[in-house]
Amino acid sequence: MSRFTVKDFKANKGGRIVMVTAYDYPSARLAEAAGVDAILVGDSVGTVVLGYGETQPVTLAEMVHHAKAARRGAGDTFLVADVPYLADATFERALASAERLLKEARADAVKIEGPKPELVERLVAAGVPVMGHLGLTPQTASQLGGYKVQGRDLKTAKKLLADARALEAAGAFALVLEMVPAPLAALITEELSIPTIGIGSGPGTDGQVLVFHDLLGLFEDFKPRFVKRYLEGAELFRAALKAYAEDVKSGRFPEEKHSFTLKDEVLSALKKGL
Ligand code: KIV
Repeated sequence: MSRFTVKDFKANKGGRIVMVTAYDYPSARLAEAAGVDAILVGDSVGTVVLGYGETQPVTLAEMVHHAKAARRGAGDTFLVADVPYLADATFERALASAERLLKEARADAVKIEGPKPELVERLVAAGVPVMGHLGLTPQTASQLGGYKVQGRDLKTAKKLLADARALEAAGAFALVLEMVPAPLAALITEELSIPTIGIGSGPGTDGQVLVFHDLLGLFEDFKPRFVKRYLEGAELFRAALKAYAEDVKSGRFPEEKHSFTLKDEVLSALKKGL
């Protein structure tokens, strides 16, 4: 049972929910120690950890593997796991995917990308806590014209609002809004009774989520404009690795304190026997 529960998400409507992604034991431990409200094992693992360049190739097996490791580090922090691309293509597949993520990986909830209210309704009826995800949905980015802000014109803004309402009616307990113009995200937030969690959607949502490797500067292939880097992690890591390499080459590492001793008599007996 996690500290933060589905009920707490709803109770924090109008508040400031803090969510961050994590994909393994150490990242989840760090997030847990920082006291975040929720950890998301996002399929962004495909981009920032597995090097696929996008999220589509991520498999359910990979999500379960990473969610299990994150769960071990997350303690009792609320943990949401993404259902990866096409692992929710039918209700039966979505339920089987949710079952693995909830029971095997012990996630508290799953996140389903895109406007799929009928699917969400059936999953919720089956007992699956579902977080929605609208706006820029990376699994279907190519259908949305690439990694672009969504809902900029009247037609698409109306659709986003309607999709958000439909997901709320379907029983989603919270909704991620990714790369939605700030005034539209604020309006959707006002219109819904469930909390919205924004990423690149301005300050008017009920919470924020960022990708672990983005906020710590560990992923350098590209930097979305909406990311605030709290650390230049890759620079620090590179400098440390360079120092290690130089120490090994120059003989500065290992020192005596990093080594184990052997009694002189053992060593001399050993040498005599050679
Ligand atoms: O996969 C992910 O990390 C996500 C967040 C960007 C919301 O879905």
